[in-house]
Amino acid sequence: MSNPAATNAAPVALTPATQDLTRLNTLGLASQAGAFVTLDDPAQLPALSDLARQADSLLVLGGGSNVVLPQRVPGLVARVAFKGVRLLEARPDAWLVEAAGGENWHGFVAACVDNGWDGLENLALVPGTVGAAPVQNIGAYGVEFDARFHSLTAWDVPAGRMVEMRADDCRFAYRDSAFKHDAPGRWVIVSVRFALPRPWRPVLGYPDLQRHARLVQGEPTARDVFDAVCEIRRAKLPDPAVTGNAGSFFKNPIVAANVRDSLAAHFPGLVSYVQPDGRYKLAAGWLIDQCGWKGRALGAAGVHDRQALVLVNRGGATAADIMGLAHAIQQAVAERYGVRLEPEPVVV
Ligand code: EPU
Repeated sequence: MSNPAATNAAPVALTPATQDLTRLNTLGLASQAGAFVTLDDPAQLPALSDLARQADSLLVLGGGSNVVLPQRVPGLVARVAFKGVRLLEARPDAWLVEAAGGENWHGFVAACVDNGWDGLENLALVPGTVGAAPVQNIGAYGVEFDARFHSLTAWDVPAGRMVEMRADDCRFAYRDSAFKHDAPGRWVIVSVRFALPRPWRPVLGYPDLQRHARLVQGEPTARDVFDAVCEIRRAKLPDPAVTGNAGSFFKNPIVAANVRDSLAAHFPGLVSYVQPDGRYKLAAGWLIDQCGWKGRALGAAGVHDRQALVLVNRGGATAADIMGLAHAIQQAVAERYGVRLEPEPVVV
């Protein structure tokens, strides 16, 4: 396995070219970039800063699984494709593993399970790249990215320098981080380091896992959890290679306890989870489903028929189609429940 942090000594030039982005975003929205570069060597980063200074804007693209792209993306687009995974240290209390920002997330999780570096298996099949994972602090089946995070290396594009960040610098919260609030195009995440606690303990609290046949007996291994998560996700989430989608389109809204209590009194089936601070997270998928939107469509944009939180491209959808459907759903949920749904993907 290669060293993700390795840089060539000499700076490397970058030449922008036009690029069709339709296959580089998992929603499959037809989109073009007038100026596009692929970053596959950190030695290209100084050249990226030079280009970004001349361009009106910079869009940093990972796996394209959390963006809504317009038909023409203005400015410069840079796709992060740095590769490499390695074990940094086998500490008694943790495996310290490093992965390059351009590694496919699921491929990285699978490699960790293959090597016995357990602890990321609940995050199997999350689409996107390693470098995009901290941006939205990905989470699934009871594990959030920040629970396994050690540190990362990022390129500060305007300043033209490499920066090391710890968790405090990243300000992780539910599907949120400092990267989402900074100017878009400020950071390129070059590599991420994970601390995977030893001894490993499975995280099986999520209802779907508690019910899963693979996990109800004996002592499941990380491989069992990985396989179970893959089966659950494949059963209810559309494969972006087949049906364009960006995973959950909305965040699960977090509301005060009194708001949740009065909603639960009116709507006895309300699905909610208490948070460490006493507030409640509401299941947005349930709210949308109850409003009758599951499986429905507005033109080329649709709501997935097995998970109402996922919007799909039914073929030839544009950003306007997806956002039109998103607004109709937001309106329906606000009218019925008085709750505002916030989109999860970055809308360019
Ligand atoms: N539900 C419905 N109808 C629906 C969808 C959901 O009634 O159409 C109900 C379910 O029955 C369940 C509850 O809502 O009681 C929650 O549903 P689910 O377990 O599917 O999870 P979620 O809250 O909708 C979140 C994440 C997913 C993640 C799953 C599993 C967010 C925004 N989404 O979805 O993440 O895979 O939990 O941990 O937090 C993503 O972010 O792209 C993503 C897919």
